[in-house]
Amino acid sequence: KDIDAPNIPKATPTLPDAQTVTEVEHYTDRLFRFRCTRPPSLRFRSGEFVMIGLMGDPDPETGKQKPLLRAYSIASPSWDDELEFYSIKVPDGALTSRLQHIVPGDEIILRPKPVGTLVHDALIPGKRIWFFATGTGIAPFASLLRDPQTYADYDEVILTHTCRELGELTYGAKLVEDIRKDELLAELIGEGFAGKLRYYPTTTREQSAKMGRITDLMRSGEVFTDLGVAPLCPESDRAMVCGNLAFNLEIKEMLEGYGLTEGANSKPAEYVVEKAFLD
Ligand code: A2P
Repeated sequence: KDIDAPNIPKATPTLPDAQTVTEVEHYTDRLFRFRCTRPPSLRFRSGEFVMIGLMGDPDPETGKQKPLLRAYSIASPSWDDELEFYSIKVPDGALTSRLQHIVPGDEIILRPKPVGTLVHDALIPGKRIWFFATGTGIAPFASLLRDPQTYADYDEVILTHTCRELGELTYGAKLVEDIRKDELLAELIGEGFAGKLRYYPTTTREQSAKMGRITDLMRSGEVFTDLGVAPLCPESDRAMVCGNLAFNLEIKEMLEGYGLTEGANSKPAEYVVEKAFLD
């Protein structure tokens, strides 16, 4: 019988640009983080994104499989041996409905071509930098906040993070806690670096210490009173924005209202914007 139905393992297709998952952590039914190996040749600037994904289902007619890729901000700093990503889980999302089930040892596809606008090179020098994030939009800032250049370039670094629920703030809260204790950053920038980092988390659909959308809290002036800083101005403030589309458009208009001009890699200015990954 064994000879009639030999147990020959199916040939597993070798993934192009394959990297191995090393760690997975789930935060809520909508959010998770994972780490994977880093291609030795991959160099990137903090805040950039790459295309990552999995092999798609076979085409019903040809049987051929194509990679299913999406843009993901690299959440780990450029000095890290591994790469970290922070992802949403969408039940019927083409990629994340499957990606959410990865476990250590699995392979993902990673195209080693980093790009993006949320980079220090796209901003002109200033005194204070604001990182405005909603939801998974915190990912590029998780990289930038662990980059010594962020503290070397600015006197003050303010991270605002607006989420629907408290559980969605866990990743950012832990990140800030870890950074404040980071010995390497303290050694590179000086013990006082932790005092430069301000964290302003808010929720919109669950009770927390600070409720409301960051845009509304800026319009009312509450955020400036809470932090004891003046409203943004083009002389001293720089901003990076990453969140859902409606948020990006609204805050962009507000930043223009404060007199800030949008920058780019080719033409650095006072603020930059990028869309957070949504499946
Ligand atoms: P709200 O709950 O009031 O919609 P999402 O998970 O849908 O991407 O949203 C993440 C967070 O961004 C939520 O707290 C949401 O608030 C907030 N948000 C959505 N649109 C805007 C906007 N135009 N300006 C500011 N915050 C927004």
